[in-house]
Amino acid sequence: MPKLIVVNREGEEKTVDAESGVSVMEAIRDNGFDELLALCGGCCSCATCHVFIDPAFAGKLPEMSEDENDLLDSSDHRNETSRLSCQVPLTDDLDGLKVTIAPED
Ligand code: FES
Repeated sequence: MPKLIVVNREGEEKTVDAESGVSVMEAIRDNGFDELLALCGGCCSCATCHVFIDPAFAGKLPEMSEDENDLLDSSDHRNETSRLSCQVPLTDDLDGLKVTIAPED
């Protein structure tokens, strides 16, 4: 059961337990962070699940699809650590991953 560290928009940090195999978006949403809207429910078409990922884990993440890349381009807050959290499955390998919920666009 991987642990996920979530930093909300106020800068508060909370560690949550997640089922292996759920997406980072689901793990965040299901643990009561209502600021992560995830409006499209995870089908990579809304960009409201934007997070910044701890660079230490960059090499362990799946490649970004063209769709995800295009959607992230629509955000004013994109940086080199940006990902759409619905596109990142939480595996045991990502235990201890820290993500920061991006500011609202
Ligand atoms: S939840 Fe819509 S793109 Fe991730």
